[in-house]
Amino acid sequence: MNDDLDKLRQDLLGQVRKAESLEALDEVRVGALGKKGRLTQLMRTLGQLEPEARKAFGAALNRVKDEIADAIEQATGRLRAAEIERRLEAERVDVTLPVKPEPQGRIHPISQATDELVAIFGEMGFEVAEGPHIEDDFYNFTALNIPPEHPARQEHDTFYLPERRDRTRKVLRTHTSPVQIRTMLNRKPPLRIIVPGRTFRADHDATHSPMFHQVEGLVIDRSTHMGHLKGCLEEFCRAFFDIDDLPLRFRPSYFPFTEPSAEVDIGCSRAGGELKLGNYGDWLEILGSGMVHPKVLQNCGYDPAEYQGFAFGMGIERIAMLKWGIPDLRTFYDSDLRWLRHYGFVPLEVPSMVGGLSR
Ligand code: PHE
Repeated sequence: MNDDLDKLRQDLLGQVRKAESLEALDEVRVGALGKKGRLTQLMRTLGQLEPEARKAFGAALNRVKDEIADAIEQATGRLRAAEIERRLEAERVDVTLPVKPEPQGRIHPISQATDELVAIFGEMGFEVAEGPHIEDDFYNFTALNIPPEHPARQEHDTFYLPERRDRTRKVLRTHTSPVQIRTMLNRKPPLRIIVPGRTFRADHDATHSPMFHQVEGLVIDRSTHMGHLKGCLEEFCRAFFDIDDLPLRFRPSYFPFTEPSAEVDIGCSRAGGELKLGNYGDWLEILGSGMVHPKVLQNCGYDPAEYQGFAFGMGIERIAMLKWGIPDLRTFYDSDLRWLRHYGFVPLEVPSMVGGLSR
């Protein structure tokens, strides 16, 4: 009888050891200790034994029961731990993996060009300044040495607002140059600012939009000269267009608010009807510039014998079209999502001189 009990014990311990899942282990428990389990059934036979034998066998049986129950409990702990281990392994997330989110929106080429030129001029020590879109005639014209009846007024195709009671009219600024005046009047030299922003002219065709963008530059100091203007614009153009040997040509020109004045061309090729920027012998005009006119300095209370400076103005649409090969100016304002997806820029790639500009 004790031999049989020991065989049963060995058998059950073996089953416990072999159980590879909590379900299998539970079957072993039911088979041994459940209502119809083998040990439970043996317990039921105790009643048929003589008192002496019953006592001895009952005690042996209880020890085996406890031993099996213990073994099952330990195996349960072991299997639970293994199960957790397995799930942790299966559901593992490597939080150190780099993620590359693909944002849906796109940065408009005007914003991108603005961000890039701010990065370049920022590196050179320029600050960004701003002014109102609705300007006084004084800032847009008169203070810039464009008096009433000056022919330059007609050239600007100005949008005028209705006449006010004092008979003056506000204008939508026709260029960013009025911010030169506002800055000089409000601050003390030395000055080094750029002014990116909207400008307005009553003109609308394939190459003109009634609203467009310019960036103005203004540097005022005691010994600023034309060489600074040339170096500054050369460095800007080479960085913006990402062409190290991009040549610049300074052509004498006329603006009422600069003297001398120069229009600036960059090198290009038009071979095969295709425009390519670089040192190819042909030229393309991209901006107006010059030394700030003594009268403009005086209008702002600066003594031209003490302070000089240079200024320039450049169309942002134009340089964006040249950099990214955008053929039609009007498409900038169509709000066509297909166009924006094609010509737009990924928002998370913020341009900087260290991180890089766009390609
Ligand atoms: N304001 C001029 C324009 O709109 C550009 C310019 C700015 C020229 C500064 C010289 C100096 O055409």
